[in-house]
Amino acid sequence: MEYTKLGSTGLDVSRICLGCMSYGTPDRGSHPWTLEEDAARPLIRAAVEAGVTFFDTANVYSDGTSEEIVGRALGEYAPREEIVLATKVHGRMRPGPNGGGLSRKAVLTEIDASLRRLGTDYVDLYIVHRWDPHTPVEETMEALHDVVRSGKARYIGASSMYAWQFSKAQYTAERHGWTKFVSMQNHYNLLHREEEREMLPLCADQGVGVTPWSPLARGRLTRDWDAGSARQDTDEFGGTLYLEEDRVIVEAVASIAARRGLSRAQIALAWLLGKPGVTAPVVGVGKEAHLRDAVAALDVRLTEEELKELESPYRPHAVVGFS
Ligand SMILES: NC(=O)c1ccc[n+]([C@@H]2O[C@H](COP(=O)([O-])OP(=O)(O)OC[C@H]3O[C@@H](n4cnc5c(N)ncnc54)[C@H](OP(=O)(O)O)[C@@H]3O)[C@@H](O)[C@H]2O)c1
Repeated sequence: MEYTKLGSTGLDVSRICLGCMSYGTPDRGSHPWTLEEDAARPLIRAAVEAGVTFFDTANVYSDGTSEEIVGRALGEYAPREEIVLATKVHGRMRPGPNGGGLSRKAVLTEIDASLRRLGTDYVDLYIVHRWDPHTPVEETMEALHDVVRSGKARYIGASSMYAWQFSKAQYTAERHGWTKFVSMQNHYNLLHREEEREMLPLCADQGVGVTPWSPLARGRLTRDWDAGSARQDTDEFGGTLYLEEDRVIVEAVASIAARRGLSRAQIALAWLLGKPGVTAPVVGVGKEAHLRDAVAALDVRLTEEELKELESPYRPHAVVGFS
């Protein structure tokens, strides 16, 4: 495993982050394809054994059951002080008023609920899952600052939003002397590169670590365009993210993988890991082989010709996944 600093912080993280949205009770929340605890535990253990120290979950994943599974497994398999545990807030956790969003009430309620489910006193990285257009950004940033000051989170991060929104949040925090975001978890992979326009240059300029979600385009970069999977067939949100014209990029990945004798996942992750500013992709691991591929991608260097072959067929996509 390789380790690096998260952006300009002093925090060490593994260059592969384990995405724990794959683990949870399938009939809770909106991911019917998740692995139950019995199937998830060996994968979390294998990740720890492979040197992964960075784990990502969210309050909404499988209605809190992802946090419960991850908390129990890490509690058993890893020393708390070595682990960088991230969770998120914003998604709706219950119907009715104040059941989601980034109000002071929601943030302070949800951090306590996440800590209870994770079975820990603090998270290392508390991430706002989306922008909340219905709450003043001052209210959110002050509440997040209070979460950090109370010792319930070590750092704060953000996820998919417009660069102007992220800038506004950072500027607001700075103006008031509050804690600023140290990371951006955004949708960035070979099939979706819109973040290269504004967000990635902003993060590079500001020393913000980048931890892309769905780095394998939710599996599409790992298999033929027309081949589905149990997950893909029931992945409602994933169905909104990619376009028929992305097929040529999937074919380019396949052809380079075949020539190099490597898996497609290794090629797609090597491309991302080679992008300046990318700290750690948040990889979805449903099998031990997926984890081995992710770790092996750290040793793959792509040539200039291969990069061109992967990048030149890209066509701009509409912005999706921000709400
Ligand atoms: N902040 C956000 O808004 C946000 C949004 C989405 C995700 N996330 C985070 O990002 C993490 C990763 O998301 P994701 O699961 O969509 O990411 P992904 O890594 O793009 O997709 C994972 C899927 O790719 C396939 N796969 C992975 N490795 C493979 C390999 N070596 N060979 C063949 N197939 C392979 C599997 O698909 P099959 O199961 O279909 O075979 C697996 O379920 C989540 O767990 C979560 O922590 C955050």
